[in-house]
Amino acid sequence: MSKVSTENYKGVRDFYPEDQSVQNYIFFIWKETMESFGYEQYDASILEYSDLYKAKSGQEIVTEQTYNFVDRGERDVTLRPEMTPTIARMIARKKRDLVFPLRWYSIPNLFRYERPQKGRLREHWQLNGDIFSINNIFAELEVIEIASTILRNFGLNDIQFEIRINDRKILNKKFEELGLNEIQSSELSRLIDKKDKIDDFDEQVEKLLGKKIRLDFEPNEEITAIIDKLKRRGISNVVFSPTITRGMDYYTGFVFEVYDTNPENNRALMGGGRYDDLLNIFNEEKLPAVGFGMGDVMLRETLETYGLIPKHYNQTDLAFCPLNEAFFDIVSEWATELREAGLNVTIDYSGKKIKDQISKADKRGIQFISCIGDEEISSKKLIIKNLQTSKETKLPLSKVAQFVKNNRSV
Ligand code: HAM
Repeated sequence: MSKVSTENYKGVRDFYPEDQSVQNYIFFIWKETMESFGYEQYDASILEYSDLYKAKSGQEIVTEQTYNFVDRGERDVTLRPEMTPTIARMIARKKRDLVFPLRWYSIPNLFRYERPQKGRLREHWQLNGDIFSINNIFAELEVIEIASTILRNFGLNDIQFEIRINDRKILNKKFEELGLNEIQSSELSRLIDKKDKIDDFDEQVEKLLGKKIRLDFEPNEEITAIIDKLKRRGISNVVFSPTITRGMDYYTGFVFEVYDTNPENNRALMGGGRYDDLLNIFNEEKLPAVGFGMGDVMLRETLETYGLIPKHYNQTDLAFCPLNEAFFDIVSEWATELREAGLNVTIDYSGKKIKDQISKADKRGIQFISCIGDEEISSKKLIIKNLQTSKETKLPLSKVAQFVKNNRSV
């Protein structure tokens, strides 16, 4: 019989508790920051009808990067590669019942059939923040302020990241001047988006258009106003970047991406923009929208580069280490009492030597232990040892919860 492999599927990750704790930390900062700006959380299923992506998305995402299958009822199904079509669908579906403006956020896992490499995987989690029905640049300003606040909340300083902004209208104007048709425009736009990653940009442009052209872009009034107003809000790491065009077809104007300034991490931490026409695909009238997506993979790389991932502490506050099996019943009653008082408590039922039990609790990163022998059982006074400081404190059971809460490091 052939053995089943323990490898996980290509391009996805297993989250062992240490990894999950980093992930929880990332989600925590995301959630806290989004809620501090008044955004409400939503979610949806990973599965969508494939049609949703055919109407509008990036060409590359739909034709080369989706996971599709036909279900048992002959339906074409796709594992969502991004959240924007889903939020647009959800809004179109209930538009009349919703109170605008909407500020919504979500942390979906997304699937893209990409070549796995540094910063790019086949499954990632992505914070999405979107604001609907605001037609002026205050939506753009808010979204950039959120982006900046999130990264600052992770401990990054403004020199460590750069917010690159552009407006597709600037490109479109240029393409019009050059007399390009729709196909040429969209191909050239994609090429410009990749400019920094390819060596023979000029040759490829010439091949596409059949002639040499000069590409220079000036910021328009909107971009200048955005940069100016952000500066006044204390955000000055924002630059006009005409090569940011974004891979998706639905953006209608303002677009942006945020980069780690460390050249080792040269992929975008996040990206987004304005997409006022996406509801058209559901035959709904236009709805102004600005939003962004921020992935966990690049973010983690960046936080690691700058040493900004907090040390892993176990969420368990206290481990009981009973010296003898005869104490298991009473110790589990005490554990229940402490849990009711708000502690996270585990019990070692291994029956192993006390030294062993302590060393395991320590390895797991549990901060407090309490060894239970005859003395503790009869007096109901416990010795609580803080494994981080080695300090021991003797307390009646009734005082343990408060003591641990006052002294725990997380
Ligand atoms: P996106 O640029 O495709 O935009 O993705 C946003 C961010 O998600 C990227 O900057 C990157 O950090 C991360 N990301 C994307 N693909 C992968 C991958 N294969 N592996 C790891 N991380 C990845 C969107 O998805 C838009 N729907 C964002 C948006 C929301 N626009 C408006 N609202």
